[in-house]
Amino acid sequence: MSECKVPRRGVWADALNFALPLEARMDFPSRSLTRRDLLRSSLALSASTLVGGSVARARALLAGSDAASVEASAALSPRERLLFDFGWKFFQGHGSDPSRDLGFGMGQGDFAKTGEFEFATQKFDDSKWRALNLPHDWAVELPFVRDEEQQSHGYKPLGRRYPETSVGWYRRTFDIPKEDAGRRVVLEFDGAFRSALVFLNGCFMGRNDNGYAPFRFDLTDFLNYGGRNYLVVRMDASFGDGWFYEGAGIYRHVWLTKTDALHLGQWESYVRTTVKGGAATLNLGTIVQNEGRQPENCRVHWQIFDAGGKVVASAEAVPQSLAPDGSAAFTANANLTNPALWSPEAPNLYSAVVTVESGGKSRDAERVSFGVRTIAFDADKGFFLNGKPVKIKGTCNHQDHAGVGAALPDRLQWYRLAVLKDMGGNAVRTSHNMPTQEWVDACDRLGMMMMCETRMMSSNAEGMTQLELMVKRYRNSPAIILWSMGNEEGTLQKGPLGPHVIADMVARTHELDPTRPCTSAVNESFHTHFPDALDVMGFNYNLNVPDAWHKAHPKKPSVGSETASTVCTRGIYETDKLRNWVSSYDAVHPPWAELAEEWWKFYGTREWLSGGFAWTGFDYRGEPTPYGWPSINSQFGIVDMCGFPKDNFYYYKAWWGSEPVLHLFPHWNWEQREGEPISVWVHSNLDSVELFVNGKRHGSQKVLPLTHLEWKVKYEPGVLEARGTKDGKVVLVEKRETTGQPESIHLTADRTEINADGEDVAVLRVEVLDKEGRAIPTADNLISFKVTGEGTLIGVGNGDPNCQESDKAPKRSLFNGLAQVIVQASKTLGTITVEAYTEDWPPPKLPPVRVNIATKKVDLRPTVG
Ligand code: GAL
Repeated sequence: MSECKVPRRGVWADALNFALPLEARMDFPSRSLTRRDLLRSSLALSASTLVGGSVARARALLAGSDAASVEASAALSPRERLLFDFGWKFFQGHGSDPSRDLGFGMGQGDFAKTGEFEFATQKFDDSKWRALNLPHDWAVELPFVRDEEQQSHGYKPLGRRYPETSVGWYRRTFDIPKEDAGRRVVLEFDGAFRSALVFLNGCFMGRNDNGYAPFRFDLTDFLNYGGRNYLVVRMDASFGDGWFYEGAGIYRHVWLTKTDALHLGQWESYVRTTVKGGAATLNLGTIVQNEGRQPENCRVHWQIFDAGGKVVASAEAVPQSLAPDGSAAFTANANLTNPALWSPEAPNLYSAVVTVESGGKSRDAERVSFGVRTIAFDADKGFFLNGKPVKIKGTCNHQDHAGVGAALPDRLQWYRLAVLKDMGGNAVRTSHNMPTQEWVDACDRLGMMMMCETRMMSSNAEGMTQLELMVKRYRNSPAIILWSMGNEEGTLQKGPLGPHVIADMVARTHELDPTRPCTSAVNESFHTHFPDALDVMGFNYNLNVPDAWHKAHPKKPSVGSETASTVCTRGIYETDKLRNWVSSYDAVHPPWAELAEEWWKFYGTREWLSGGFAWTGFDYRGEPTPYGWPSINSQFGIVDMCGFPKDNFYYYKAWWGSEPVLHLFPHWNWEQREGEPISVWVHSNLDSVELFVNGKRHGSQKVLPLTHLEWKVKYEPGVLEARGTKDGKVVLVEKRETTGQPESIHLTADRTEINADGEDVAVLRVEVLDKEGRAIPTADNLISFKVTGEGTLIGVGNGDPNCQESDKAPKRSLFNGLAQVIVQASKTLGTITVEAYTEDWPPPKLPPVRVNIATKKVDLRPTVG
């Protein structure tokens, strides 16, 4: 191994980049980066978080923000972190026929000798393979199959009985410069589904057998320095980890990280904060590893930056000498006076730059984003954030979205979070698995607390590894307030093993992170010894349990780890078993579950309950409840697969949010139902609401806390109107009008300028209007799309749980008036034009409309060339 090289291009970008969200990264210049550049970029978000209320802040963040200038100076370090998402080739292999799987597994000799995997050498021809970029989910591209065994995973042909669609090969060739010899080069996957086998230059690098935890392989000894390299990944989705749609393939980011042989351990750097009076103490720690052949005398120091980029504290650990192949922990303390505390309303962040020096040079550095806040769970008084009682107003969410399945561009994480925040939510649970970094970043930066859950509840090696990775990776995120050891493990909850397993998991979590409590989502066997080791009891459903349980365990704090499971179909007001539709009047739930109003009246009115997490914020693929085929996704969401609100969204917004709410439903298009009684509901947090039909009064009702309003009125076409009163004045008016026939298409983009970085997306809403320009709430027109210019269509959706149209085709039927199109920018600046039109059939033919989205030049994230 040669001496480590001097600092190289972009080193600080890579050192500091990994924890940054897209908004911050997009400010990076492409020339060699200085530390000043990076801090300027990384702090842009934090600076903007100081402005305005939380929803305004979310919008400002989604629209991008100006950078604050930062003065800082430090030596460069030789770390690079390169995004490895672009330029892959893909081939659908075969799970049982080696002749259709590159001959892999033909005999039993594949792993007999090192270096003989020809598909990972220059001899292999991948010219016929499909070109694609990551993240990629091939499951969402597959057709649906009517197979009840596949119901929970959304009726996709995956698993051992579908060998022809369950294996995917990814291949990428890349150059490694000669100068990298002597550095450590590590390939990092943020998560991939599932059973990855990784090969490089003919050699096997390793395997990973779960779909959610990150994994990495040190490529250093196997690379061709100064030449071509051949990387192959075989993914096998034959087995699953869950009972919900999980996708298939490399659905999260991949990175190539290059460091000095003397470097910081991965996710070993932590910042623990304690607040007393007006000051915070920071306990800083990291682990340095010496993979070089010389002993090293190491100095480790930290600089702490505030949101404006000012150095507000610094610290240095006691120097230590590290033998070759040695590693050591370094710790120090620092103080912050008058820290700006983190909360959902003001998600103030700080960053710590930790640097290891030896031989008079900076050898490695990384930036750790953190927040200062206190949390406490109290058995009698509930949850406290920064010393004040706060009810947890949470939702559970899986990780897939319309059009893209599990492979979400980063921007969509922000998009989804903004929807939940707009509803008044202040917390999310990452059910039932470790989330991706971008979801955690979005929560840190938009202000959303998190209950972060591991997939495998077990104290076996796999379970503990998944848990440790989760805790180490995310322990600096102020958003996380609870670690969850897992969900509804019937056998462990009931039987003698559970208390041991859970005690081991909790103990290890506390070792890695003494600052946060552990919980678990418990169901059914509440009165066993399973919850003993938990710091916070988690109740799933069963509203008849918490009161008695609390009496029996008066010292244990508790939270509603999973509640609701109310089912609704967006825009539907009559349950129709033949069509698999469920009424949206907060009226239907499966036997184990409860209505929105029921669970929130329970949790919202008991001081000792910390609050809870409704199942679910977004609809998700799989678990098509309450109906099976042809339903392909759940109907539990408060918003649908696209993020379009169902009516219950406004129940939560009224009682969780801080803005005045007046939401009137249903729509007023009840053709041929004249004279029939229609239930009219209002979700409002005003004092009273008066209802009118075509100007005629139908009575005023007083709003009771946490309760909806309801009228029965005879339908007549025209205008349904609600007037909401606060302190004796009408402050909000809502109307539902009977609309006419479709006359035009209406297309709107969430943003009309996005980044020309090959990653950013615009989300378009598609509607059909009548001749008065009113959106038709029942429209089901099939709309086609043509995307030209500097972008491509990456997915479509409409929120219909029963729609089996392709997620990838350039067309989609509206479902109850709405569809969604997601377009992704190329790396060339210019314009993306999205045209929406109708084919000659089915009628009516509507005039085409276009929306232009400008793509702006931004500094690209450093990538593997
Ligand atoms: C829960 C389970 C969730 C989901 C939900 C549907 O028991 O934890 O994953 O299946 O039921 O109601």
